Amino acid sequence: MFMADIARAIALPVELDFMAVSSYGTATKTSGVVRIVKDLDIDLTGRDVIIIEDIVDSGLTLNYLRKNLAARHPASLEVCALLLKEGMQKVEPDLRYVGFRLPDEFVVGYGLDVAERYRNLDDLRVFVGPESGH
Ligand code: IMP
Repeated sequence: MFMADIARAIALPVELDFMAVSSYGTATKTSGVVRIVKDLDIDLTGRDVIIIEDIVDSGLTLNYLRKNLAARHPASLEVCALLLKEGMQKVEPDLRYVGFRLPDEFVVGYGLDVAERYRNLDDLRVFVGPESGH
């Protein structure tokens, strides 16, 4: 949903591609071990690349992605994150664009899920349930 909204807001000749990654862990905590479920179709060599990410929590997923994409020799590599959970990263994440900063709450809706549910909610909500530990 974020990608769709941001794409409509960019009035430049851009190309869009999607990657699906899944990070192992519990329902609400990533382990940092990332599996690429769907890779990019576009070759990044020599291109100016912006990673559009929905949410940065520990930053482990992004860390992995950044290294993986940097190895494909783009001309530049920047990150745009809709949401950043404040104080949750061991190292300050290098984000070119940040939409909103959040406290340490698990949020769902607007494309974000817990175990694949609630992606269809059209706004963001704090998830309070058994998986959240609250
Ligand atoms: P990180 O590796 O801890 O930064 O987690 C990043 C990934 O975990 C995101 O791309 C999301 O898929 C997922 N994630 C982290 N926090 C949330 C949340 O509050 N709601 C839904 N998904 C989340």
